[in-house]
Formats: sequence, C-alpha cells, structure tokens
Amino acid sequence: MYNLLKGKRGIIFGALDENSIAWKIAERAHEEGATFVLTNAPVALRMGLINKLAEKTGSEVIPADATSIEDLENLVQKSVEILGGKLDFVLHSIGMSINVRKGKHYTDQNYSFTHKGWDISAVSFHKVMSVLYRQNAMNEWGSIVALTYMAAQRVFPDYNDMADNKAYLESIARSFGYYFGMDKKVRVNTISQSPTPTTAGSGVKGFTGFFNYAEKMSPLGNATALECADYTISLFSDLTKKVTLQNLFHDGGFSNMGISQSIMEDFDK
Ligand SMILES: NC(=O)c1ccc[n+]([C@@H]2O[C@H](COP(=O)([O-])OP(=O)(O)OC[C@H]3O[C@@H](n4cnc5c(N)ncnc54)[C@H](O)[C@@H]3O)[C@@H](O)[C@H]2O)c1
Repeated sequence: MYNLLKGKRGIIFGALDENSIAWKIAERAHEEGATFVLTNAPVALRMGLINKLAEKTGSEVIPADATSIEDLENLVQKSVEILGGKLDFVLHSIGMSINVRKGKHYTDQNYSFTHKGWDISAVSFHKVMSVLYRQNAMNEWGSIVALTYMAAQRVFPDYNDMADNKAYLESIARSFGYYFGMDKKVRVNTISQSPTPTTAGSGVKGFTGFFNYAEKMSPLGNATALECADYTISLFSDLTKKVTLQNLFHDGGFSNMGISQSIMEDFDK
C-alpha cells in the first residue's frame, strides 16, 4: 500500500455487507492510513454486519438516516469530535428505489415511493453537503464523492426511477461543488460505476442480463467493487486536487462503446 490517505479523516456512508462498494472503500481507506466513521441508516445497522467492518478498520459506527438533517448534524459533529479534527473525505454510497423494491413499473409509479426514493438516493447528497458546509466540517482540499450509474444519461429501462434520481444526484454534485470549491476549496465528484453485484445492484430487475451485456461490451470488462474502491481512494488522495464538478466513468470503457466484436458475434449467427 502507498499511505495515500495517511492522516486523513472521513465519513463513509453505505456499507451494508461485504458486497457493498462502500465496504471495499472502507477497507482500502484503512489500508491507505485513513481514519473514519462508518454510518448507515438505523434499520440497516440492525443487521449488525457493519460491526465486523468497524472492528477491522478501528472505526466507530454512528447511525444516521441520510434523509434526516437532525441525524446528519449529529453525525458530522460527533465525527469531527471522535476523529480529532475536520474531515478530508466523505463518501456518499446510498441508493434505494421503493418503486423497484415494490415492483412498480416506471410508467405506473407510486409517487410517494418516487418521492421517498428521490430523497434517499439524490436529495440526501445535498443534505449531507449542506450540513458539512454549514458546520464548516471539511478541511481545505478535501474531497467528497458520490456513486452513480450511467442510466443518468442513457436509457436502461429496468433501472426505473433510479435513472432520474442519478441524474439529479449528478447535478447536485456540480451545483454544490461550485460553492464548496469557491468557498472552501473542497472538490465534489461522482463516480459512474459498472453494474456491480451488491444488494442494491442485484435488486434491479434483469441485473444479470445487463451485467453480462456490459461485460461483453466493455474493452476492459466490468469494473469490480474493489476496483471502484481503488479509484475512489485516488479521488480522496492529494493526487487529484484539481478534479472537481466531474462525473467520472469507471466502467471499463462501456460508456464510449457503440458495439463490440463479442456482442456482434452473438447476433451474427
Ligand atoms: N451495484 C451497482 O450495480 C451500482 C452501479 C453504479 C452505482 N451504484 C451505486 O453505488 C451506491 C452503493 O450501492 P451498492 O451497490 O454498494 O449497494 P448496497 O445495497 O450495498 O448499498 C446501498 C446503501 O444505501 C444505504 N441506505 C439506504 N437508505 C438509506 C438511508 N435512508 N440513509 C442512509 N443510508 C441508506 C443502504 O443501507 C446500503 O448500505 C449506490 O448509490 C448505488 O446506486 C451501484
């Protein structure tokens, strides 16, 4: 390891189980010398798995529903106290569509599910940043990253209302990133990750189909959760200080492909 995050402090949202992208990011951040607080929604913490990660990485766990300003204020204030200073990095790795979970088709949504999913998956990023901003909790040259998916730009029918949530999330990164950059010299980016077999990922109808399709379409193959963790560490490190307001594709090249030989062969029979 390279000590890329030596002395850096952070908050990591969204580690649910060993498959979670945030879980891998926490393990890698620990290996690179960071100290951090782990957080998740109280209902997710009831599963108890996060304690294993906390033990392994020497971290404390503070529950917070990312849609609750009160929970977020408590989380940020306590994290700064526990870690002994302002924060250098924050990971937003949160997503949930109630319409997807309840099997509602995109053309026939339950709008209270739509609203809740939007609050959890997109507006929560604004709420997290507004609390960090108002509490002046980020160090200069800090880095804030949220995870997103390419359905924000292109049509993936089964991704349902999460596509709209991701478009909104990416816009928040740019809009809030402007103020965080100007006022606090903090960078804000989103990473647009390949389909990844996690609880949230596998919950999308037809996941296996589009996972395999993306694998065949991408010159480098799908990016794994661990590879996403490596990329995220680079964005938390001092090696990427002037990268901000970006949506960064981490997808083995998928987003710029038209067709691959392998897919063509499937249709050339
Ligand atoms: N898995 C994929 O294919 C894929 C691809 C691109 C982007 N992403 C994004 O990566 C991020 C992480 O997802 P993952 O794939 O690791 O799945 P995951 O299910 O492991 O993580 C999602 C997390 O969101 C948390 N969460 C849900 N509601 C919350 C709330 N109210 N407050 C706080 N936390 C809450 C869950 O508890 C869970 O830890 C999400 O933003 C997801 O959309 C995933």
